[in-house]
Amino acid sequence: MPGMGNSLRAAALLAFVVLSILVSLLIGSVRQFGTSASRFPNASLSGGEEELALLHQLRERRREIVPLLSPEGEDRDGSSPRVQDAILDSGLWDEITLGSRKAHLDQMSCDSLVDMRAVEVLGSGYTKLVVKVHLAGGQLVALKLVNEKGIDMSKCLEDFGDPQGCRELVSYKLKKEMVLLQRLQHPNVIKLKGHCAGVQGGRGVDAGRPAVILEQGDPLQMIQLLQSPWEDRFRVCLDLVRLLHFLSRSPLGSVGLLDFQPRQFVTVGGQLKLTDLDDASARETACGADADCTLRFPHRNFTLPCSSRGLCEGLNEKRNIYNAYRYFFTYLLPHQAPPGLTHLVDHIMNTTGELKADINQTLEAFEHILLLYKSGLHLDNLPPSIIRDYAVMRGMGASGTVEYRCWPSYSQQGCVLSVHSAREAAHICNSHSQCSSFALTGQKTWTGRLLASFKSSFSHLVPDRTSEVYVKKPKAPEVPSL
Ligand SMILES: Nc1ncnc2c1ncn2[C@@H]1O[C@H](COP(=O)(O)OP(=O)(O)OP(=O)(O)O)[C@@H](O)[C@H]1O
Ligand SMILES: *[C@@H]1O[C@H](CO)[C@@H](O)[C@H](O)[C@H]1NC(C)=O
Ligand SMILES: *[C@@H]1O[C@H](CO)[C@@H](O)[C@H](O)[C@H]1NC(C)=O
Ligand SMILES: *[C@@H]1O[C@H](CO)[C@@H](O)[C@H](O)[C@H]1NC(C)=O
Ligand SMILES: *[C@@H]1O[C@H](CO)[C@@H](O)[C@H](O)[C@H]1NC(C)=O
Repeated sequence: MPGMGNSLRAAALLAFVVLSILVSLLIGSVRQFGTSASRFPNASLSGGEEELALLHQLRERRREIVPLLSPEGEDRDGSSPRVQDAILDSGLWDEITLGSRKAHLDQMSCDSLVDMRAVEVLGSGYTKLVVKVHLAGGQLVALKLVNEKGIDMSKCLEDFGDPQGCRELVSYKLKKEMVLLQRLQHPNVIKLKGHCAGVQGGRGVDAGRPAVILEQGDPLQMIQLLQSPWEDRFRVCLDLVRLLHFLSRSPLGSVGLLDFQPRQFVTVGGQLKLTDLDDASARETACGADADCTLRFPHRNFTLPCSSRGLCEGLNEKRNIYNAYRYFFTYLLPHQAPPGLTHLVDHIMNTTGELKADINQTLEAFEHILLLYKSGLHLDNLPPSIIRDYAVMRGMGASGTVEYRCWPSYSQQGCVLSVHSAREAAHICNSHSQCSSFALTGQKTWTGRLLASFKSSFSHLVPDRTSEVYVKKPKAPEVPSL
């Protein structure tokens, strides 16, 4: 059906053009309104009560961000009213979001976005729209903007009917996220490359559109991940645990991710990174009794002790661990774990699913598995003699091969699996009825394990310095025995 293909292509092209126009409009507005004065548009609003409610919400969102801005330790519990009041003065507020409080000389600003080109929409949610853009310098980055068509925006418009006020309200989530990204730098948090906040004081409907510039990642595809090798699924879980370990003792205290879903994460070169931080909380819940410290999940409730300071201490950490268990580990970890490691994986599943281990112990358990897996120690019970069934040809590659498929393979066409050594590969080849040879190509996975390509047969060998071919020796006539 060529007609259908054409109209699809036309639709895609149209969408692209519309997007490009939107983004260039945005940049235009950034330039135009970059330097205007600060605003609080009470004059332009209609209905008195709605106006007050919106103003109240705006103040609340600001208050939420203030403690995140303060230097380590100080003012964390909001005990400094002087700082709070000062921040509520929007002049100082502008200074902070515009980045002049701290010099971030290496950071990109609105200038970097001049002449950029939108490539595609990477994702969108309730609050934000994320666009992949090509900067004039050739770099690819992700640009986070307020999602004008998102649920947050439409709900606000429904409640208050003030487009500009709503845009400002929603953009506080983006600002909060930016502040958090600045304070919570870690290999498993998306890298903040800069921001363009120049629209603070704009006039009319175009005002108030901050853009956050981020390292570009790939949205986490759970379905795809479920079909990938255990090693890659383990990596995602390990990265997540490393992140949660950091968050439990971050510069802002123990940070809880209140909206914990795979869609809050992306991968960059296979490494997991948190990208959605607007629902992170650095506050521990206040309590009067243990019952106030109950974590409720669909299938489990947990109650923590209320500390003498009147806080549910460790609640953020525990909530994060259980969410990691229910959204990630249950799907990604047990399935096809290497036989020598299943008891350790089961242990992790049990201690996280029951909240018996803290994040330190959980991280230790993961790092222990990584160590065993990398070093091949979990393969101790493979007989060394197994490799003697194979003839090895070094500096050779196989040509004219007959492939067979296995699952989960690193290659769609054939059977490519990661192995610690030729010995492990021989063990795998022995367990596949179609396998008669395998090649080690010198390619490695993220753990440093070798990629082995298993074949049914091949017609001849060709010189290849990077490769070794192992061929199963013809067996001596078998003596039936059991
Ligand atoms: N740096 C990035 N690179 C690639 N894709 C990204 C990046 N940041 C975010 N995304 C994608 O954009 C989507 C929306 O971003 P984000 O989660 O921050 O918005 P949101 O409105 O808070 O979403 P939600 O309603 O899910 O909370 C994400 O689910 C993710 O798939
Ligand atoms: C806007 O509201 C503030 C307090 O809410 C008030 O002090 C100020 O005078 C108002 N400005 C205008 C232009 O009405
Ligand atoms: C969790 O607690 C709620 C409220 O106390 C209760 O209704 C629910 O049945 C509990 N769920 C489980 C799985 O125990
Ligand atoms: C943990 O192990 C105990 C005892 O074997 C079992 O009853 C429980 O269901 C397990 N919990 C989880 C979450 O796997
Ligand atoms: C967890 O580990 C950190 C160091 O990484 C340490 O400072 C902290 O005391 C440990 N917490 C617990 C509960 O053991």
